[in-house]
Amino acid sequence: MTKRALITGITGQDGSYLAELLLEKGYEVHGLVRRSSSFNRGRIDPIYLDPANQGRLTLHYGDMTDSTSLINVVRESRPDEVYNLAAQSHVAVSFEMPEYTASADAMGAIRLLEALRQNAPEARFYQASTSEMFGLTPPPQHEDTHFHPRSPYGAAKLHAHWATINYREAYDLYAVSGILFNHESPRRGESFVTRKITRAVAAITAGRATSVTLGNLDAVRDWGYAKEYVEGMWRMLQQDVPGDYVLATGVGTTVRDFAEMAFSHVGLDWREHVETDARFERPSEVPELLGDASRAAAELGWKATTTVRQLAGLMVDTDIALLQG
Ligand code: NAP
Ligand code: GDD
Repeated sequence: MTKRALITGITGQDGSYLAELLLEKGYEVHGLVRRSSSFNRGRIDPIYLDPANQGRLTLHYGDMTDSTSLINVVRESRPDEVYNLAAQSHVAVSFEMPEYTASADAMGAIRLLEALRQNAPEARFYQASTSEMFGLTPPPQHEDTHFHPRSPYGAAKLHAHWATINYREAYDLYAVSGILFNHESPRRGESFVTRKITRAVAAITAGRATSVTLGNLDAVRDWGYAKEYVEGMWRMLQQDVPGDYVLATGVGTTVRDFAEMAFSHVGLDWREHVETDARFERPSEVPELLGDASRAAAELGWKATTTVRQLAGLMVDTDIALLQG
């Protein structure tokens, strides 16, 4: 029997990699896309238009802030597995739009869980939770670490995390929360710090720019490769017993060191091209995220393999190729 998966956030970085993975595994994939006045399908269109996927990938209009559209997409797609990846995912933006962020990220998860409970209670549910929920708690962070979110985004995601666990405990839904540390790729949104840096390296190499302006260079993040992380999401929904898992590399790197890796990949000295400006700093920062993914290694057989230096190199190479057309 062909399995059916529903992915919210299918037009995002992770959604596009997950759609590819599930199509490769023989799934029928359904994706939720937002209506907007212009198309935002750059990542999913190549997959959607691939003749190999004809009739196997269906896109449905809907929005995490609108229950009716979520109920409709659940009824239409009749999913075996649901991956809730849709979110206002930018931490800095969440300080400017806290109410919208809570609606899309916290209430959105509840709207979808409720749509499933009432229409497809057998479906397995994955919630895209985040290391941002740990916030101020010192590393290494793992599944049992105290949460202390530092942004409206982190707080909204924490609400969704506990809602997922509550639907599992209260209604016996197969619902899991994947607590993923930062993961990047050439498909990363352009305003996240890694991609901002690798695009700048490409532009500087091409003579189109001379510098990039960043905020806090001291922040430490645990950066892995998104393509490997979507495999971990899928594995979480294949377990006999639902549980929550951290996915991380276990290696922490400062923003400064990531810049050094990206610039040195093309023989440039980052110190000659990176400027700082307080306007890119956040009202409250998460100083250090570094995850312990031992539970995922033991129970899912999942391990990150791409190093942060390799990741920086592959993102720079792709951004250079993109600029060259
Ligand atoms: P992303 O590239 O920003 O993608 C977010 C997706 O959500 C996009 O498809 C976006 O649609 C969609 N979306 C936003 N608001 C929506 C709404 N109101 N209704 C319907 N769809 C909406 O994020 P990502 O990096 O792939 O991350 C995927 C998920 O994992 C997110 O929930 C994120 O918070 C979480 N997460 C990410 C990381 C990471 O390091 N990447 C780590 C931990 C957790 P448009 O294309 O129309 O904007
Ligand atoms: N975006 C951005 N832009 N961040 C900067 C900049 C800049 O110019 N300069 C320094 N930073 C610092 C931020 O203050 C933060 O400490 C770090 O770089 C990483 O910022 P982002 O790349 O925006 O990612 P994030 O860690 O805030 O959030 C990402 O990872 C979370 C998981 O921990 C997002 O993908 C979230 O959706 C995800 O949940």
